[in-house]
Amino acid sequence: MQSFQFYLPTRVYFGKGMIEKVGEEAKKLGKRALVVTGGKSARRMGALQKIEDFLKKMGVKTILFEGVEANPSLETIKRGMNLAKKEKCQIIVGLGGGSPMDAAKGIAVSSTNPGGFTQYLGRNKLKEVPLPVIAIPTTAGTGSEVTPYAVFTTTDGKHQKKIMADDFIFPKVALVDPELTLSLPASVTADTGIDALSHAIEGLISNNSQPLSDRLALEAIKLLSTHLPEVARNPQDTEVRGQILYASLLAGMVIAQTGTIIVHGMSYRLTTDLNLPHGRACAILLPWVCEFNLKSSSAKLTSLAKSLGEDVENLSQEEAGQRVVNRLRELLLQVGLSQDLNLRKIEESQIRDFAHEVMQDKRKLANNPRKITLENIIEIYRKAFGVVK
Ligand SMILES: [Fe+2]
Repeated sequence: MQSFQFYLPTRVYFGKGMIEKVGEEAKKLGKRALVVTGGKSARRMGALQKIEDFLKKMGVKTILFEGVEANPSLETIKRGMNLAKKEKCQIIVGLGGGSPMDAAKGIAVSSTNPGGFTQYLGRNKLKEVPLPVIAIPTTAGTGSEVTPYAVFTTTDGKHQKKIMADDFIFPKVALVDPELTLSLPASVTADTGIDALSHAIEGLISNNSQPLSDRLALEAIKLLSTHLPEVARNPQDTEVRGQILYASLLAGMVIAQTGTIIVHGMSYRLTTDLNLPHGRACAILLPWVCEFNLKSSSAKLTSLAKSLGEDVENLSQEEAGQRVVNRLRELLLQVGLSQDLNLRKIEESQIRDFAHEVMQDKRKLANNPRKITLENIIEIYRKAFGVVK
């Protein structure tokens, strides 16, 4: 059997009402908590008030840092860090989707690591242990609550996504509560859900995959392909919301071990330059990247197809691969993501520019199961955007 390593230092609480744990978990870590959150939705849903109440009950003071934008900028991290330092915060609570949770990680890092934040971007650059983070997701997709990754946007000159990857930024605690996702709008549910699906599929077919993360990935794919169309019809169903949030958690655990492949590598510029939400950018690329990769990688094909609900037992590899790609397209349609997927305008010069940048990401290229060239990447972008050549 294949040897592997699996590292996950985050204490996970999963279930309805689990945000009440924030008080007792924070109390173990200190007396002053910076609560980092996005726009107004956490406040409107009442989650923010509940967290403040639970913290207060255990003698932990809340300092609020609201208004973290999508794809948080380095300026936002700096403002958060200044507040955390001024208020002598000992704990950072990230409440929201991927952006507030990643911002919480960034603020935790910059509060203890001296000098400019940019020197810590990249892989394993941290000098000091960051402040402890309690992550509380309100979307089911990013998995940031159980990963050692955070993504930030630099705004000097052109916008660029920069990744921080370090075992030190695994959250200490993740409170994963399906009730917090009940009021998510349909479009956010679909975007973030496909992000989670992409994590699971990329982790499964990655060259870095391993037996244990494969089991988690297949379970996540099965749950997402079953329940994402259901939640589009029944958004208030806590049970279905729970299944999706659980799947997103599993997919986060997968990429914490395997990393992602070129779906994510190719998606970043679609967000920074074309303003597409992260999950939507992955959705546009996912079927085409799968089509490219499945041509040479048969080992995982049967199990992937099965977890998507397809029977490919007696099919040739090519037919089975096509079934997988068709099923993914059908799923995108079922969750309402297909209408505008390839109607976006993209210039040929942008495609080439984006593709050249993807080729710099050696780690994602190495993780991709089939060797991929610049021309292959250009071709996938063209197909994804319906550009006929
Ligand atoms: Fe993602």
